[in-house]
Amino acid sequence: MAFNKRVKIKSLLEQPLIGAEVTIMGWVRTKRSNKNVSFIALNDGSIITNYQVVADPNVISEETLKKCSTGACLKVNGTIVESQGAGQAAELHASSIEVLGEADPEKYPLQPKKHSLEFLREIAHLRMRTNTFSAVFRVRHALAYAVHKYFNDKGFFYIHTPIITASDAEGAGETFKVTTLEIGNPPRTEDGAVDFKQDFFEREANLTVSGQLEGELAALALSEIYTFGPTFRAENSNTTRHLAEFWMIEPEMAFYDAEDNADLAEDFLKYLIRYALENCEDDLKFLEARLLEEEKSKPADQRSEMGLIEKLKFVADNDFVRITYTEAIDILKNSKPNKKKKFQYLIESWGADLQSEHERYLVEKHFKKPVILTDYPKEIKAFYMRQNEDGKTVAAMDILFPGIGEIIGGSQREERMDKLVQRMEEMHIPTEEMWWFLDTRRFGSTPHAGFGLGFERMVQFVTGMGNIRDVIAFPRTPGNAEF
Ligand code: 4AD
Ligand code: MG
Repeated sequence: MAFNKRVKIKSLLEQPLIGAEVTIMGWVRTKRSNKNVSFIALNDGSIITNYQVVADPNVISEETLKKCSTGACLKVNGTIVESQGAGQAAELHASSIEVLGEADPEKYPLQPKKHSLEFLREIAHLRMRTNTFSAVFRVRHALAYAVHKYFNDKGFFYIHTPIITASDAEGAGETFKVTTLEIGNPPRTEDGAVDFKQDFFEREANLTVSGQLEGELAALALSEIYTFGPTFRAENSNTTRHLAEFWMIEPEMAFYDAEDNADLAEDFLKYLIRYALENCEDDLKFLEARLLEEEKSKPADQRSEMGLIEKLKFVADNDFVRITYTEAIDILKNSKPNKKKKFQYLIESWGADLQSEHERYLVEKHFKKPVILTDYPKEIKAFYMRQNEDGKTVAAMDILFPGIGEIIGGSQREERMDKLVQRMEEMHIPTEEMWWFLDTRRFGSTPHAGFGLGFERMVQFVTGMGNIRDVIAFPRTPGNAEF
């Protein structure tokens, strides 16, 4: 007989099967015993709710029951009986329990008490066994699935762009190098520089910071494509919103202008939120209660005005605000925190780069809604963005979310060869190396646009988790590549 003839707890809760004999498997969350009976709360990760196993010491040996401690993995066979107690409709009366894996109660680090998120980060290999993290990762899965469903239903094609590249699409110089050269003793050219001609790729290579440039090549053939893959940035930012390895979704569309791009981005974000609301209700309810509890320790003015689910519904049901960078600068210049010098970076003039304190002011204090900010000064944006008629701004678009700040960055692309080359030269982007990118402008160029959604920031928004390290299974940040 197959080993895995088990019923998932999720399906048992959906369909109680009173009177049936079933096998369930999972990990012990808690065990309570009195003289007559033991109650074991079992969780198999299929759903947030535990299933109650009732073990009669006349049926299950004392030795076995002793091993059913928190963290142990069990295979339980028994009959489903209507539950007497409150809380759940049915329970499993065990006829046999097999301890698949013991967990020494003296040593098992996860106890039924509350652990801090910081502590759990140090045992990330076990933290998925907690309610909080299993909920987060189920929601993360649902959102990833919804990404593919959204684009598939719209006729977009999923393109796998390379993870190893020779270009730095964003031009920010925050790449991780990829090499097989011996670090302490690399081959050198006559003038003493490292001789990358002798490296694996016969040139310098790095981990990708974005799939966009290759995505553009695909969009100029398949019209509408998206990428969804890992992205790497060696920026030394120890914040609650930055990872060195994160996942980005990058749609790229031929025949779209900046407005079409913003329309798609807004529709896409709302779709993802609605998908989670419809498919992750019990996890979101749990996460909402968790957040409420966490916020109790904050001063009243720093607590959210809305509960998690209310906030998600609000964002899904209301139009985002659309303003230009220039309008945003006016608002920020005249804002209270700017006048009272409360911003760390004061906004003095047009051209200033927006910091997260400014983004959050706009979203959380001024508009109290997601904001789509467009038409930034060309000096603070990447080379590939389409230049506007004013000669000063580009058709950039950032989407700012409450509690998160920038969640999407995108633009209409510069499709005009001469303008693109001119901008690349101004920004010292090597045009010869980018011959393949420029070929798309040389042959059959067309207006096109796209954007990148930081997947973890989206998962943060939907789950209400404050730290980006808590929405990816094994976070990579400066000084941290454990697990
Ligand atoms: O704004 P970014 O840098 O845009 C691009 O990379 C474009 N090539 C996208 C495009 O137009 N196809 O990054 C896009 C998004 C950000 O808005 C943010 O949500 C996320 O990626 N992001 C990060 N998320 C986690 N950790 C980091 N270090 C991130 N850097 C960017
Ligand atoms: Mg950006």
